[in-house]
Amino acid sequence: MNKILAIANQKGGVGKTTTAVNLAASLAATNRKVLLVDLDPQGNATTAAGLKENSPNTLYNLFFENTKISECIYKSSDGYDVLPGNQELLALEVGIREKNQQAFLKKELNTLGDSYDYTIIDTPPTLNQLTIEALFAASGTLIPLQCEYYSLEGVTGLMQTIQSLADKNLSSNRVLGIVRTMVDMRNNLAKEVSDELESHFSHLVFNTLIPRNIKLAEAPSHGISGVKYMPSSYGAKAYLALAGELIRKVEYV
Ligand SMILES: Nc1ncnc2c1ncn2[C@@H]1O[C@H](COP(=O)(O)OP(=O)(O)O)[C@@H](O)[C@H]1O
Ligand SMILES: [Mg+2]
Repeated sequence: MNKILAIANQKGGVGKTTTAVNLAASLAATNRKVLLVDLDPQGNATTAAGLKENSPNTLYNLFFENTKISECIYKSSDGYDVLPGNQELLALEVGIREKNQQAFLKKELNTLGDSYDYTIIDTPPTLNQLTIEALFAASGTLIPLQCEYYSLEGVTGLMQTIQSLADKNLSSNRVLGIVRTMVDMRNNLAKEVSDELESHFSHLVFNTLIPRNIKLAEAPSHGISGVKYMPSSYGAKAYLALAGELIRKVEYV
C-alpha cells in the first residue's frame, strides 16, 4: 500500500525540505519505491532532487491543462521519483480554492494505486491550501522542529488542524511524530527544549535526532540528497536511522 506522508510545519527554515529529500533518498536506498511531491512554490525539494528538465510539468499543468500525472513525474538522481514544484504552484493554490477542488491532490495520488510504497510530500511554510491538500492526502504527518524557544508555537495549530480534519472525517491523517532537526546538544536551550518535548510528547517524538551537519546543507547545490552526497556523515546516518524508525512505525503495526 502506498503510504502517503506529509512533512509539515508552518515555520520556514526548520528542515522540512531537508527531511523530505533525505527521507525519500533513505527509503529508496532500502529498495522501496518512493515518490517525492514538491508542494512548495519555492521548489527547493525539486532543486535538491537534481531534475534534469528545465521546465518540468508540475501539479499546475495537471490541474489547469489536464496533463496526465505520469507526465508530471520525473526521476531524481537518488533512486526516487519526483513530482516537481515551482512558482506556478502559487496559481494552483488559488485555483483549487476558486474552483472548489479541495482534496484534488488526494484524488490524483489515488490514481497511482500501489506504484509506490511511500509518497513524501514537502509543503510550504504556511498553512495555506497547498499544505491543506497535503494534509488531506496524507495518512501520516511528520513535523520537523528546531529545538528553540518559540518552536512549539504554530505546531499546536498544525496539530489541531490535522485533528479537526480527522474529526470531520475529511481525512485519516494523524501526526506520526515530531522530528528534532539541526540539533546541537552543546546548546543548553536546545537540550532543554528537546528534553521538554520528550516529556510532554513522548509518544509523538521520533527518537532519532537529526544533528546540525554541514554536509546536509551542501548537498542540494549538487542536486543530490545528503544521504548520497556523503553517506558516512552524521547527517546522512541520522536520516537513514530516521527512515528505519519510520518504517518500524508504519509498516509493523
Ligand atoms: N541538519 C541540518 N544541518 C545543517 N543544515 C541544515 C540541516 N537541516 C537543514 N539545514 C539547512 O537549513 C536551511 C533550512 O532547511 P530547509 O530544509 O530548507 O527548511 P524548510 O524546508 O523547513 O524551510 C537550509 O539551508 C538547509 O540546507
Ligand atoms: Mg522547504
